[in-house]
Amino acid sequence: MSNSNIVWHSHPVDQQTRSDQKTQRPLVIWFTGLSASGKSTIAGALEQILTGQGYHTYLLDGDNVRHGLCNDLGFSDQDRQENIRRVGEVAKLMADAGLITLAAFISPFRDDRRLVRKILPEGQFIEVYVDANLEVCQTRDPKGLYAKAQRGEIKQFTGIDSPYEAPEKPEVHIQADQISVAEAVNQLLSYLHEIGALQAGYEPVALGA
Ligand code: ADX
Repeated sequence: MSNSNIVWHSHPVDQQTRSDQKTQRPLVIWFTGLSASGKSTIAGALEQILTGQGYHTYLLDGDNVRHGLCNDLGFSDQDRQENIRRVGEVAKLMADAGLITLAAFISPFRDDRRLVRKILPEGQFIEVYVDANLEVCQTRDPKGLYAKAQRGEIKQFTGIDSPYEAPEKPEVHIQADQISVAEAVNQLLSYLHEIGALQAGYEPVALGA
């Protein structure tokens, strides 16, 4: 809900000032995919490399954010939409603070992801599709949630009885059931380098690291 009695206040310190101070380009790297596809693991590994190289980052993770900011939300379509709306706004604030922000959420709906892209400055949203086949995710099932969903103990589980809309044109498409975490991180680093988001001279991570 917007309120016409509230007027935007511009401050002298802006995104440019904050990112210049960190000598980096602010970004939101948005990981979407099924539960157990590897979003959090890949995002965490990328963040570790980036901070190791001196970048300033923050990782927003679905399971963690749902413990606090979004602990009033469940998994209906409407609640997921609100989850992504809130997290999108938080990611925008973090990018505004000059950070390289990583977000790992199932974010199953195209429209919700599109909305996050839209609220960010041009070129600062990178959609990463962490693509792992449903059977692979079900076999991994690290939290035993797919098994519970199959027994009907959890309702509206993504991929079982709740939809997942795959990105049509993600900036990065990771075949997460075919490559290792280190390879996925390298794929991302190469992309970030290619678009000039990272300073020259990064070294690819040793495979298997
Ligand atoms: S989202 O759909 O709103 O983007 P989010 O990424 O925040 O989801 O949370 C997903 C995590 O919540 C999953 O990784 C899983 O651990 C847990 N979870 C619990 N119930 C469900 C459910 N019904 N569907 C999907 N994930 C669930």
